[in-house]
Amino acid sequence: MKKNKDKRTSSRQICKKVAIYPGSFDPLTNGHVNIIYRGLELFDELIVAVAHNTAKKTAFTTEERVEIIRQVFRNEPKVKVESFEGLLVNYATQKKINIILRGLRTVSDFEFEFQMALANRGMRSKIETVFMMTDSSYTHLSSTLIKEIVALGGSGKGMVPPLVERRLREKFGAKK
Ligand code: COA
Repeated sequence: MKKNKDKRTSSRQICKKVAIYPGSFDPLTNGHVNIIYRGLELFDELIVAVAHNTAKKTAFTTEERVEIIRQVFRNEPKVKVESFEGLLVNYATQKKINIILRGLRTVSDFEFEFQMALANRGMRSKIETVFMMTDSSYTHLSSTLIKEIVALGGSGKGMVPPLVERRLREKFGAKK
């Protein structure tokens, strides 16, 4: 009996659908948070993969970005947060995960995302990129925009989780 139960458990584990949600997350916005929660409706587990060493000059270090996302999702065991360096496909191969989740905000995102998805599949044929339309409340958001608003003393309410807003104020020495 116990043997059968173990078998069932292990086959469930094998079938666990896991996707990687990569990005620079400098910082995490409510648009990202929305994609993560909706992604959890499709996948059993999501690995939020914070890119280290992208061409982008970031306000937060990789460690800070990872730590912030971990704190925001501290009560969500299905969300794991890691950083990666180098090619995303190599990271995915190392994790034995074939699915990449990405959010699309506008038509202008599509061209770049399409290019990236094809390039990733060209490098590793098993990789599938799944796109989710960003919720209409967040299509105008970007991490750059939010950094500018908070750095200039504006409010990030509704755009970023409260913890992110606090960390942005600390980072930019902005007044409340
Ligand atoms: N709602 C609101 N805003 C969103 C959003 C959403 N759902 N999803 C993304 N954004 C915003 C981000 O805030 C970000 O804004 P910013 O440009 O002002 O910082 C912008 O959209 C794009 O961000 P992100 O989704 O994090 O993508 P990215 O372009 O920063 O990261 C990587 C792309 C990291 C996935 C990609 O460069 C990569 O895979 N790098 C690894 C190296 C590699 O493999 N290169 C070859 C790729 S083919």
